[in-house]
Amino acid sequence: MRITVETGDITTTSSPCIVVNLFEGITVPGGATGAVDHALDGEIGELIAAGDISGKSGELTLLHTFGKIASPRVLVAGLGKSEDFSIDRVRDLSAAVAKFLRGKRIARFATIAHGAGVAGLAPAACAQAIAEGAVLGLYRFDRHKKPDDEATEVEAIALVEHDGARLSAMEAAVERGRLAAEAACFARDLANEPANVLTPTELAARAEAMARETGLGCHIYDREWAESMGMGSYLGVARGSAQPPKFIVLTYQGAGEAPPLGLIGKGITFDTGGISIKPAQGMEEMKGDMSGGACVIAAMMAIARLKPAINVTALVPAAENMPGGNATKPGDVLRAMNGKTIEVINTDAEGRLILADALAYACKLNLSPLVDVATLTGAMSVTLGNVAYGIFTNSDGLLARVQSAGAAAGEKCWQLPMFDEYKENIKSSVADMKNSGGRGAGSINAAFFLKEFIDDRPWAHLDIAGVDFFEKDKGVLVKGASGIPVRTLVNLALDLAATPLA
Ligand code: BES
Ligand code: MN
Ligand code: ZN
Repeated sequence: MRITVETGDITTTSSPCIVVNLFEGITVPGGATGAVDHALDGEIGELIAAGDISGKSGELTLLHTFGKIASPRVLVAGLGKSEDFSIDRVRDLSAAVAKFLRGKRIARFATIAHGAGVAGLAPAACAQAIAEGAVLGLYRFDRHKKPDDEATEVEAIALVEHDGARLSAMEAAVERGRLAAEAACFARDLANEPANVLTPTELAARAEAMARETGLGCHIYDREWAESMGMGSYLGVARGSAQPPKFIVLTYQGAGEAPPLGLIGKGITFDTGGISIKPAQGMEEMKGDMSGGACVIAAMMAIARLKPAINVTALVPAAENMPGGNATKPGDVLRAMNGKTIEVINTDAEGRLILADALAYACKLNLSPLVDVATLTGAMSVTLGNVAYGIFTNSDGLLARVQSAGAAAGEKCWQLPMFDEYKENIKSSVADMKNSGGRGAGSINAAFFLKEFIDDRPWAHLDIAGVDFFEKDKGVLVKGASGIPVRTLVNLALDLAATPLA
């Protein structure tokens, strides 16, 4: 899809459809909407007066212009109450508009920059949100379905801006938004793919193909390499499966010798639970247990294209968690590459086992700061539902950066505490720690486990279980994998490139 920014007047723009907007409660439209209303002899105002257009958030009204202006159609999009308005609304509105017009089989449309007028939001931020919303909202995962001959795509969106001085900033913002959102769609593709297709080998192949296209460095390591590195914790998870593990390393070099930002993602391509097997109900969702890995791979794609002045290395330990004759059993003791031993209480707590070795390897590579992303604990969705994901950290500075990167992306996170007392929960009588801390505080126990492998580097752990997968469309989210927090990670890399962590 092409998204362009043009200087001009939306009233005289020639396009199959032009999109204007309206706040709730406005009776006399102003700005661009007012100009279009005037050109249509007051039709929009009459529809408002008749109660047919209210401006409520999500309301979409398609009008025909019968030759009064160059475009045959006008779509009036409701912005909701002005006091509730935000950049998140702009992104969601853009998704709704794009989906609606695709449903009307309209392949091209022109729009004003919602939010940049009376709402007073920064024009570039609005342009970025419109690009993101359209790309994210139009996402479909249909590669395993019979081709739909009726289906059409939106091919081009033109953002029409009257003030030429804003053009170049808006163009750059559209490009940022498009690339970040396309990366999120790449993560969605990986996570939506069934586990019989997306094995560790296939995940590695897709990461490698992307790296070749974008110019990233890429190494795919196999079981023998992991053995030689002493990654007994990671290999303890992989050993139950007939699918060989793959350890994926992507590197982006955008600055001199500075230690690279480390992005570490959980790459369990299917989580049966292993010998501590999961119940059948809902187990199919565990094809998405590599979402964290998919998100860091995808973030690298956008980073490679946006070229910030920073070094970034992504690590994705990929494996399948299966029960099998050779599988790790409850009670087994594993040794991670930093020498620490782990008593496996529950083979379903496998995410922390593979991340342990990946984080230890990140320290060996001198990556800093470290950000890991994982669908780590079911307890996370009990705590925060699907509205926000949990963040655990030893660095207030890094926390603030992730929070602001997330706020700009419309991807919410909430900090959970790491009080020392919780560490007791993962004490083992036979090893240095155990991989399950019992009933209470499941997500925090998991974070404490990971903390054993970071060598006191600045670190943030993002537990995305709960926001990785959605049951139905919601704003920019489409049923299935969400691609959260790809755009946060991209924003974070751009921000750290501009201002390194103190
Ligand atoms: N992948 C799961 C966590 C998960 C559950 C993600 C539901 C998304 C939806 C993880 O590997 C897991 O099984 N965690 C266990 C840990 C427990 C055994 C300590 C859990 O949350 O039950
Ligand atoms: Mn599990
Ligand atoms: Zn898992």
